[in-house]
Amino acid sequence: MKIVSCNSNRPLAQAVADNLQLPLVNASVRRFADMEIFVEFHENIRGEDVFVLQSTSAPANDHLMELLITMDALRRSSARRITAVVPYFGYARQDRKTGPRTPISAKLVANLITEAGADRVLTLDLHAGQIQGFFDIPVDNLFAAPLFVQDIKARYAGRNLMVVSPDVGGVVRARAIATRLHTDLAIIDKRRPQAGVSEVMNVIGDVRDRDCIIVDDIIDSGGTHCNAAEAIMRNGARSVSVYVTHGVFSGGAVARVGASSIEMLTVTDSIAATEAVQTGANVRQLPIAPLLAEAMRRISEESSVSSLFD
Ligand code: R5P
Repeated sequence: MKIVSCNSNRPLAQAVADNLQLPLVNASVRRFADMEIFVEFHENIRGEDVFVLQSTSAPANDHLMELLITMDALRRSSARRITAVVPYFGYARQDRKTGPRTPISAKLVANLITEAGADRVLTLDLHAGQIQGFFDIPVDNLFAAPLFVQDIKARYAGRNLMVVSPDVGGVVRARAIATRLHTDLAIIDKRRPQAGVSEVMNVIGDVRDRDCIIVDDIIDSGGTHCNAAEAIMRNGARSVSVYVTHGVFSGGAVARVGASSIEMLTVTDSIAATEAVQTGANVRQLPIAPLLAEAMRRISEESSVSSLFD
């Protein structure tokens, strides 16, 4: 078993390698003067079970291309099996035609990853579970939910909790956490008049005097969660905190969260923390490396990954 790190999240790759007590493969992923990517391994790869770790976070296209070129190099180095470990799978929100003459970019990215040489994919909280079907190779989709539940129980013990889905699309994810916490579920009726802009139409459920926990897969501009928090507080909640798997945090999202009524926003480190995230007063990160490492160990030993979530 060997672990290769591309450049999008080296601290996570190192943490995974430390968990597995393995060194990262000695490799260089670098740029030519014209910004073309070049990859070179400085050790033998032949016959190895190789895991390539890369989140396709911003700059998404560069990070995707790095992943593809790395897998191409691995295939040409005679790796026995290549697993693309993509903790944050970018382009996942483009998983259907949103209008006439538009792409399904998530499918294109799945094709690219497969064509570049991946034998299987390991990812975390895919935006939509059915994206697994865009691949004709095995996909293991891990869930941050158990980690969130454990953290919520420890951090919010004794509070009058209520789980909130920030939109209708997130109900299944939020309900899974509400069930594990034995608490109620509220739903935000969200409207997106245009890309990057969200509006709260209604809060469905009685949030009065509750300590609300919004659960979601992605925070991008922060609009969804900040608007939801304001609406929930207007409806009489006692507090609002947020748990999100992937901290995309584009533009001034961290500042927006800082200026909102969100008590604390917790994200995993599936995407490397920017300085703004590291210093954000009401933002914290939960390490995902132990979960990824255990899943990788099980894949390598051909044992069950799903039983991690029993
Ligand atoms: C939408 O379906 C996702 O689950 C997130 O709610 C959304 O991507 C968050 O975007 P933003 O932070 O820009 O409102």
